[in-house]
Amino acid sequence: MAKTFYITTPLYYVNDAPHIGHTYTTVAADVMARYQRAKGRKVHFLTGTDEHGQKVFRKATERGLTPQVHVDELVQRFQKLWERLDCTHDDFIRTTEARHTTVVQEVLTELYERGDIYKESYAGWYSTSAERFWTEKDVIVAEDGTKLCPDTQQPVEWLEETNYWFRMSKYADKLRAWAAEHGEWIRPDSRKNELLGALKKDIEDLCITRPKERLPWGIPVPWDSDYVTYVWFDALLNYVSAIGYRKDEETFNACWPADFQLIGKDILITHTVYWGTMLLALGLDPADCLYAHGWWTIEGRKMSKSVGNVVDPNLLVDIYGADSVRYVLMAEKSFGGDGDFSHKGFQLRYNAELANVMGNLLHRGVSMSEKWLGGAVAPLGEITDAERALQAEVSELVASYDAHLCALSYNNALEALVNIGKAGNKYLDSEKPWALNKAGDMARLATVMRHTLEVCRVVGGLLAPFCPNKSQELLARLGLSNVSLEGLDQLSGLQEGASLTHGDPLFPRMDELPPAIAEALETAAAAAGPLKSLGGGAAPKGEKKAKKSKKSAKAEPTFETISFEDFTKVEIRVVEVISAAPHPDADRLLVLQVDAGEDTPRTIVAGIATKYSPEELVGKKLLGVLNLAPRKLRGVMSQGMLLAASGSKGILSMASTLADVAPGSRIS
Ligand code: MSP
Repeated sequence: MAKTFYITTPLYYVNDAPHIGHTYTTVAADVMARYQRAKGRKVHFLTGTDEHGQKVFRKATERGLTPQVHVDELVQRFQKLWERLDCTHDDFIRTTEARHTTVVQEVLTELYERGDIYKESYAGWYSTSAERFWTEKDVIVAEDGTKLCPDTQQPVEWLEETNYWFRMSKYADKLRAWAAEHGEWIRPDSRKNELLGALKKDIEDLCITRPKERLPWGIPVPWDSDYVTYVWFDALLNYVSAIGYRKDEETFNACWPADFQLIGKDILITHTVYWGTMLLALGLDPADCLYAHGWWTIEGRKMSKSVGNVVDPNLLVDIYGADSVRYVLMAEKSFGGDGDFSHKGFQLRYNAELANVMGNLLHRGVSMSEKWLGGAVAPLGEITDAERALQAEVSELVASYDAHLCALSYNNALEALVNIGKAGNKYLDSEKPWALNKAGDMARLATVMRHTLEVCRVVGGLLAPFCPNKSQELLARLGLSNVSLEGLDQLSGLQEGASLTHGDPLFPRMDELPPAIAEALETAAAAAGPLKSLGGGAAPKGEKKAKKSKKSAKAEPTFETISFEDFTKVEIRVVEVISAAPHPDADRLLVLQVDAGEDTPRTIVAGIATKYSPEELVGKKLLGVLNLAPRKLRGVMSQGMLLAASGSKGILSMASTLADVAPGSRIS
């Protein structure tokens, strides 16, 4: 039986309101699923929700509802959003469904009977907010001595508890071997390196239960009714329970291992170390590729409920429409890297690519054909070097689109597509159909218009996975009723004589920020306040003008020079971040422990919390000035300063080096 193309997204916490991060992964998976289907593959695209755990239980209790009623209501937010965004998942799994819980219980029983799960008591710092234990060295100590969870910065409590443990350590070497032998398993390379680093350290056993008296909302441990399953052990198994693991061998074998498991970079370790060892313990292979994509900031700031800048994707769909949201999200940043979402950036990209290149080409092709050729698809006629060159360029770009898309390089695939549109516009400009019409050369005019429309057809076909509705509309205007990848690299797929439809602009230009967006932006900016310490950022109303004029006054920067001797006094060194945590007393500061090639780590306090999360900095090699006189920042002594590029929106990027050099290396 042919292998089914299987692609998954993470299961989103049902308590959270869907945001751009969730939307990004699901749309990315949908684009790939649509493309593979168009290529003729049988596809299984899975998404869903993670519905157990303390937070869900607490929220339901606060609302006076049973957890099940609570999650039944909340799950609809995700289901409705995916529908609005035209996502074509084949299945939506909820971890509270019987088809999932039975598999989790069977897996637990098998591993327990085999001795891979054992019971032991444990004492440690428990974080209710993160629903996990931390060791002494993990917790952060606030100024008043309170111990805090490094993930959530909420207080932790010392807890002694007997629980069941999964012998993760037993499978550590197998996992290391798997990673070594499967270079394509983890992508992009930055995440692969992060995992390889983590695999160098000890892998301990994993606590996979919680006492029921403390957490009543979870899957019961089959042989011990005093316990429920830990959320991650439960949720990860969805990827196999949804495709019939232990129930429907044929479907399971056709789908697993998954072709792509898409996740965000923050859940790399759970999906590699936890999930990888769980699979190996069950005798199953990990997925062919687990891709951990980068994160979005919003208008230059870290997305956060407390900042109030979490953009509701429903608002984006209301204002911009599903196709434009899908397109811009996938075009705006590389899949593996981080990126910033801004409404201005949205508009710029929409106008530059969808309106000015693709929409414009269609408009020109159809309106000129209407004006001079009776509004029908003209014959191909006699081909000249101009058409041969156009054909060669389009063929190359179609191949590039395909290669990029198959590698999840969405933004590069779209760049190839835009270049096809540009090639069409350029061809039209250089062949000058208006001059041919004037000269009465109707045969050549027909050939030129036909080739222009053929490029539109290619654009329409390749737009399909990203903008399914606009693609269909575009092709319908060319007289085609269905979207197909068949012969898409050939400029000869239209039906001669088919009537063309002009219609309204396919992608009308957006020249004003839609009022609802302008309003949302002002609210978020006012709530967040200006990023003073980082030199700018979204300013509350009224401050904008002053900032602008300041900027123009600075248009011609003049620098005070320093002597070479002065420069050599500055000790700029490569430092590797060992750990990072929020400053206990200042939202914008992070407290980093860095390896600067010295005997003991240094503490550096940096004003970068609006741009970077602590987790993403660990393991990064940055540039630091080490001989600045130490100074206290909000009570924490900082022994250096990190270098970063900054702009009007604050920090843009930390400075680093091109080569992977050792901590302590001097920059001179
Ligand atoms: N429930 C777990 C996953 C279990 S999978 C078996 C979970 N859920 S989540 O709802 O918190 O996160 C889901 C995804 O959203 C993660 O992949 C995470 O990386 C992603 N994002 C959260 N914030 C994001 C951005 N700001 N930008 C991009 N993606 C982000 O973790």
